[in-house]
Amino acid sequence: MLEVLAKRTTRITPFVGLAENIPESIEQARSHIAVPRTFDFVVSTLMLHHCPDVKKVFSSFQKVMKPGGMAIVVDLCEHPFVEFREEMGDYHLGFKPSEIEALARETFGGAKVKKLPKMCSCSASGRSADLFICPMTKSNQPR
Ligand SMILES: C[S@@+](CC[C@H](N)C(=O)[O-])C[C@H]1O[C@@H](n2cnc3c(N)ncnc32)[C@H](O)[C@@H]1O
Repeated sequence: MLEVLAKRTTRITPFVGLAENIPESIEQARSHIAVPRTFDFVVSTLMLHHCPDVKKVFSSFQKVMKPGGMAIVVDLCEHPFVEFREEMGDYHLGFKPSEIEALARETFGGAKVKKLPKMCSCSASGRSADLFICPMTKSNQPR
């Protein structure tokens, strides 16, 4: 994916890092390539359910966001497909919106999770899960 992205535009600098520790991932990348330390937007699509410690991920996002910046997480709502753990390395079987809101509140002071009208579906197996979106803003004021 990152190779395809790099071919599409020179305005994005792809590098591999850990969502749980983006500041350290950035510092490692900076010893090879020019990468900013903070960002206006952090976007995470279908990544969060792979991470055991969601609070650590949110805190990591917050550390690399500019004041007034926004993080947007799109991920799976709670679903019954336990086989996703084996098949796709999923850690969480989706999330309850209230669970994500509570975790986001601890780091960002507030967040509103909305269900999206589209589903994430696998046409081959017929399995599908609802998606949610959670925008989180970093205050201009220190917390
Ligand atoms: C289901 S794929 C989603 C890929 C892409 N974001 C999309 O929406 O099509 C999950 C992605 O999360 C990445 N991932 C899993 N755990 C991660 C972690 N701890 N830190 C950063 N990326 C992680 C995987 O490498 C994989 O690219």
